[in-house]
Amino acid sequence: LNYATAQFMVSAPTLALCPDDTGAEVAFAGRSNAGKSSAINALTQQKALARTSRTPGRTQLINFFSLMNNPATRMVDLPGYGYAKVPESVKLEWQRHLSEYLLHRFSLKGVVLLMDVRHPLTEFDLTMLDVADQRGLPVHILLTKADKLKKGPASAALQKVRSQLVEWEDLVTVQLFSSLKRDGVTPLSQTLDRWLDA
Ligand code: GTP
Ligand code: MG
Repeated sequence: LNYATAQFMVSAPTLALCPDDTGAEVAFAGRSNAGKSSAINALTQQKALARTSRTPGRTQLINFFSLMNNPATRMVDLPGYGYAKVPESVKLEWQRHLSEYLLHRFSLKGVVLLMDVRHPLTEFDLTMLDVADQRGLPVHILLTKADKLKKGPASAALQKVRSQLVEWEDLVTVQLFSSLKRDGVTPLSQTLDRWLDA
């Protein structure tokens, strides 16, 4: 698929108001500031398709992007979880909505789960893996900001995460990623092609 043709489609304030559940989509999920919006920009080779920010919690709406030649193929930039300044009750509400979406969104073909390579597999990441597992939904983990580590420590981090995921190995794949260096875009787009082209 030609991800460079991605264009902004719509922002939804809640998952109940997202586009019709037809066609095929992939969602980008992960903690606030993990690099979800930056990864979408790297994948689509566009500087500011998805808005990025140094301030965690920048993405608060659910943003849908579609491909020009395949309008029924969508990428979904989800708000990050775990944003410190959000009240606990709102966080729990969002977690509930997110689980609903992961479990029941028919057109959702897979989840790209982003984690800072320096802080992988938080409790919430594990919850996400559990929810995806309940439905047999594939998850592709991007260990982001890999440019912040030297090669050795980065591959050590990758191996460690892989070893912690044996329980989910049928559904979960992992790779290093750097939006800054545009490292890892090819394996990411190959994974999305597998999910979306089917
Ligand atoms: P929320 O929308 O708040 O959930 O955040 P997000 O996951 O969309 O993160 P975003 O893409 O906005 O990136 C957060 C910060 O990390 C920004 O300052 C980015 O420039 C930076 N960042 C993202 N990816 C990388 C990367 O690969 N390397 C480095 N060094 N910085 C990155
Ligand atoms: Mg964002």
